[in-house]
Amino acid sequence: MTSVDMRTPEALADAERWTAHNYHPLPVVIASGEGAWVTDVDGRRYLDFLAGYSALNFGHRHPGLIAAAHAQLDRVTLTSRAFVHDQFADFCHRLAALCGKDLVLPMNTGAEAVETAIKVARKWGYRVKGVPDGQAEIIVASDNFHGRTTTIISFSTDPEARADFGPYTPGFVTVPYGDLAALADAFTANTVAVLMEPIQGEAGVLVPPEGYLGGVRELCDAHNALFVADEIQSGLGRTGRTFAIEHEGVVPDMYVLGKALGGGIVPVSAVAANREVLGVLKPGEHGSTFGGNPLACAVGAAVVRLLETGEFQARSAELGDRLHAGLNALVGRGLQEVRGRGLWAGVDIDPALLTGRQAVERLAERGILAKDTHGSTIRLAPPLVVTADELDHAVAQLAAILAAG
Ligand SMILES: Cc1ncc(COP(=O)(O)O)c(C=O)c1O
Repeated sequence: MTSVDMRTPEALADAERWTAHNYHPLPVVIASGEGAWVTDVDGRRYLDFLAGYSALNFGHRHPGLIAAAHAQLDRVTLTSRAFVHDQFADFCHRLAALCGKDLVLPMNTGAEAVETAIKVARKWGYRVKGVPDGQAEIIVASDNFHGRTTTIISFSTDPEARADFGPYTPGFVTVPYGDLAALADAFTANTVAVLMEPIQGEAGVLVPPEGYLGGVRELCDAHNALFVADEIQSGLGRTGRTFAIEHEGVVPDMYVLGKALGGGIVPVSAVAANREVLGVLKPGEHGSTFGGNPLACAVGAAVVRLLETGEFQARSAELGDRLHAGLNALVGRGLQEVRGRGLWAGVDIDPALLTGRQAVERLAERGILAKDTHGSTIRLAPPLVVTADELDHAVAQLAAILAAG
């Protein structure tokens, strides 16, 4: 028997038996998905309020994205960057235009795009800013989440992400997120970049104080350092704008993108920056076998075409107001705090009532999939195709589990 023929208990046991236990999934075995909904192997339907950590901003199997993938599957799927293919320029051009930048460098996963941004910032520091060799510093924020590679976890402040994985990569300076005075003090002549999430997702959807991102921009300008915005989770419509950083009218020097760029179909990530930054890379200095492959570019270009209309951003803004109004009404009735923007919310449940894990388990029993993060915080991030009724239904289920305690 293969897992496709199994019911939930056997499929869970089989998965547990054959994989490293680096996740603690909810006991749900998904067999199919459509829009904001998934169906498990027993035929139970769930509203997906995690949306692949925002990789599914356009929902499961968005028809336009699936059509683009199918068309490309029938032509050519992989060439490597040793050759150019006919989907490459269109994707890069469209994405550069969406970002308002000169150039794009496609990779696959988010962590790879962050690594790319780190390498580009360091090289820019040495070749353009004139930092002495090996001395480049990058300022990052406490409670950041930028991925799982050894360099990236070197500057994580989460012991779970970091412990036992040393020795760590040097060259990173950590400041408290949201504290401009601390950031101002952290710059040195060797600072090449500030790398931050405009809204910290994994930390619990933490929105920085108003004016913070503008202050980061000003400090970067004053110290001739690059502002690198990790919009992997916050970008591409999630907060009601194309980029979360737009809410403060700030333009970073480099965007780091991933997740939704792959339309929920293939891993697609990228960095976008102007020529004086991204142009520092020369042939042979960086790359990836799969980065910018034809299938990824065809899907990525279709994603950018969806975002060019502004429809998803508008939907996220409008429905986000509804979601936040519904959640805010539960503050004092089981919720302690609600944060976020657009269709993205971090909610702190009264820890006397439920842990985050208990909350998401009870939500799953009621047909809503969400994910806890630290302690009693849960994140809600439905696909942007969710309807007003579906939102109201999910909020009602949350209210019900809080009332039941
Ligand atoms: C802000 C941010 N950066 C980077 C990453 C890493 O992306 P990936 O898991 O595709 O490597 C994530 C993933 O959650 C993220 O939220």
